[in-house]
Amino acid sequence: MEKSHLQKILTFPLKYHSTNRNFRRMKLSSALLAIVASLSYAKKDGQALSPPMGWMSWQRYVCETDCETYPDSCISENLYMKATDLLVSEGYLDAGYSQVSIDDCWSTQERDDNGDQQANPDRFPSGLKALGDYMHNAGVKFGFYSDIGTHTCGGYLGMKGNFQRDIDKFVSWGIDYLKLDGCYEDIAEMHDDYTEVSKILDASGRDIVFSCSWPAYVNNHGEDNDGEILQTLSEICHTWRNFDDVADSWNSVSSIIDYWARNTTDIPFVQVSGPGSWNDADMLMVGNNGLSLSEERTQFALYAIFASPLFLSTDLTKVSPESKAILQNREIISVNQDQSQQGIVLSDISNDPDWWVNVRTFGRALSDGTYAVVLQNYGNMGPYVNIKFDVSLLSQIGASVTTESQYTMRNLYTGKDVEGTFTGDEFVVPVESSSVEMFIVTLA
Ligand code: GLA
Repeated sequence: MEKSHLQKILTFPLKYHSTNRNFRRMKLSSALLAIVASLSYAKKDGQALSPPMGWMSWQRYVCETDCETYPDSCISENLYMKATDLLVSEGYLDAGYSQVSIDDCWSTQERDDNGDQQANPDRFPSGLKALGDYMHNAGVKFGFYSDIGTHTCGGYLGMKGNFQRDIDKFVSWGIDYLKLDGCYEDIAEMHDDYTEVSKILDASGRDIVFSCSWPAYVNNHGEDNDGEILQTLSEICHTWRNFDDVADSWNSVSSIIDYWARNTTDIPFVQVSGPGSWNDADMLMVGNNGLSLSEERTQFALYAIFASPLFLSTDLTKVSPESKAILQNREIISVNQDQSQQGIVLSDISNDPDWWVNVRTFGRALSDGTYAVVLQNYGNMGPYVNIKFDVSLLSQIGASVTTESQYTMRNLYTGKDVEGTFTGDEFVVPVESSSVEMFIVTLA
């Protein structure tokens, strides 16, 4: 019989055994963790209970500041106002993409006479308070960017030495989210500096979701780390970028997916995720030029399993109807937004039985007692592979299942229930190369 959700919460993480003293308490579920964490300093403040969603300028618009040559795509108030309008008019806001995020290259190169940061007056003539008001009037949140070091990665002003002053200024502009990058900062100082900014944000009187880039900068992206950084991050930030910057290519997106797949065997990586603290796989490339439709479906389905923030970084006037349907697939968005721990790899079959057969099964336990499952064909030769789904794999994410358990499947890309009830590993689906199929599994 299927366990109640509460039973699942209480038993799921206990199967893991961590020898790391720092992570003993992480064996508790995220629900219990919240109670433990409330005893010490912890960023469990009711914000980002689901992964943040929105539009972010960086990948598509980088740091173009020449508005004469590139009037429609330079980093300017026009770009962000247009993104705000399109988020609303193209239905993205309704689908859950609730924020427009400025990224690097918005500021002047010097502080003003008071020592404050200021927006470049040529590109932001109305000022950032007015831009924030514009977003808020449209029902959109104002996402913002700065850097914890002396400079941003693009060489603009950073916050080092001015944490309180800069947060005061950003708060006066009405920001709702702060991505705080880690360029031009000594890694040894990141712990204290990110913690300090987190405390200042908490005391600011404004709800600001805090996104920290710290782990993206540590050696080997933290893969050799014992989890201490992740534990701190889950206490001081709502979300954090773990890995390399995404680019508009399958090579880049698949390297991110591989990093996630590798690290779901790393317990701290999974266990720190949950309401208020999310690993961030970086922006979605869906709607751009570099991915095929199959690859776009793969990125979107897996970001739902990863519980990653969903940030579009695309020209919203150019998204094809097929890509838009992916981005606005309500059922997959609702998997992403589920207030539960991120999913893991349940099985990975490489070069077996033939060298071109490379398939993974990912699963995530959802709060309503069902399971989201993605069957990925990560091979890139051959037309398709018949992937068998074995329901007993779900025991790894808390389900009480055997090889005889019965279940039904709903296909999230067709939006239809699959006919019939299945037992054990009876369910088989063809999956094309570099593609996925995504299902909700309901135990009978
Ligand atoms: C880093 C970040 C990117 C972007 C750029 C801006 O590379 O990871 O997401 O913010 O800086 O310069």
